[in-house]
Amino acid sequence: ERPKNQILAIFGASGDLAKRKLMPSLYELFSRGMMPEKFAVLGVSRTNFDDESFRKYAGENIRSFLKDKEPDSEILDSFLSRVFYLCIDTLNEDSYFRLREKFVEIREKTEIPDNILFDLATPPDMYRIIPRALKKAGLNKSKEGGFRRIIVEKPFGFDLESSQDINSELLKIFEENEILRIDHYLGKETVQNILVLRFANGIFESLWNRNFIDSVEIRASETLGVENRGGYYDGAGALRDMVQSHLLQLMAFVAMEAPATFDSESIRDEIAKVLRSLKPLSDSDIKADVIRAQYLGYAREKGVSENSSTETYVAMKFFIENWRWGGVPFYIITGKAMPEKTSEIAIRFKAAPQKLFKGQCCGSSCNSLTIRIYPDESISLMFGLKVPGAGFEVRQVNMDFNYKSISPKRLPDAYERLLLDAMLGDNTLFARNDSQSYSWKFVEPILNFWRMEGRENLHVYEKGVFPPVFKELRDADVCKIEPTES
Ligand code: BG6
Repeated sequence: ERPKNQILAIFGASGDLAKRKLMPSLYELFSRGMMPEKFAVLGVSRTNFDDESFRKYAGENIRSFLKDKEPDSEILDSFLSRVFYLCIDTLNEDSYFRLREKFVEIREKTEIPDNILFDLATPPDMYRIIPRALKKAGLNKSKEGGFRRIIVEKPFGFDLESSQDINSELLKIFEENEILRIDHYLGKETVQNILVLRFANGIFESLWNRNFIDSVEIRASETLGVENRGGYYDGAGALRDMVQSHLLQLMAFVAMEAPATFDSESIRDEIAKVLRSLKPLSDSDIKADVIRAQYLGYAREKGVSENSSTETYVAMKFFIENWRWGGVPFYIITGKAMPEKTSEIAIRFKAAPQKLFKGQCCGSSCNSLTIRIYPDESISLMFGLKVPGAGFEVRQVNMDFNYKSISPKRLPDAYERLLLDAMLGDNTLFARNDSQSYSWKFVEPILNFWRMEGRENLHVYEKGVFPPVFKELRDADVCKIEPTES
């Protein structure tokens, strides 16, 4: 299915996100014939470009940031001929009348109907200003029966109150189903596959509950520090930057009930229900079950305050209060400047009740299902098998499924999938208002507790060294026997 003909207006078009992700993803969709038959990309920002100079700039960025290949010059030129630019002071409401004129001009040239997808690739302080100005210029609704949609990037607010403020402002201007809160983790192929793995198979779902699962661990570690994003990161920290958004959404995919039907509202209802069932953390839970740490040298990073108590690492344990998951610990661990870059979800099953064999693994990590998002997108199941020959000695083996084996095609970048869905108007993989609020509600007590503590109980770690994790997770690691080739 190809999206309807439309104009995609990117605010913050000269910024980092547009440069690294949005423009290369749009080019890639175009080169694969997945863009609308007629479309225009309109870059809007305060930087001084015109159509021609912006095309040149966008072309250079596509060449630099397109993953794993060189763009085809002819296709690139054809894509760039559909790119336009408008330099306006986005803070000034009056300048949005010029935006309106630019839309008219593009539509006359291209014969695109009055369908507009706005993408706010801007700092979050613009999330109120731009929609308000769009409304004032009459751009938030089509008078010709076309559609309007708006993509909002993260961070979606700073805490529960500010996220609700942004929401209520946006909802005065757009309908909920027109607002697409992007979470690029949901654009990742393996993440979507969690739904298929669980709900297209009889084998896993029957084990997918507190009777058989010992624990669930979601881990996302990165080797890089905050790089050039210190200014943003210092006000956010790992809990806001990764947990409130990406990792709680992943958790919801793992823990949700089967939707009544496979449509966006049914799926998003189930996601919201899990997030709403998170057991609130009391101060004593936070003390015992949430560990935060900061890498050495963080406070000297550009844009970071000298005495910053911002965490660059979080490890937390929590529970979901419902029939499926009561009593099963969930762990989320994420950090910057770690020894390796990995993102994976481990579902650890309960151990066999009796140890019969020599070498039999007896911990909860012996039978585990690992859904790997990075480095390779794969799923692997670990279990014990007999070593060939005399006796009954057991070895752990891995049964692996690697995406590369299903199709030689490259996996689309998360932004490709999400931009395509946004153009199609499919909001399944975008966070809904209520689930955003539930996840803020869950993390907020932690933020408040840390604010009170300041730097007290903030661990420090050397770059490239794992900070502390929970004892039971360390034990699970110890029990992990090096898997043999399957
Ligand atoms: C972003 C965070 O949303 O996700 C970054 O702001 C983080 O701090 C990034 O590095 C991680 O994404 P990925 O796709 O590299 O795992």
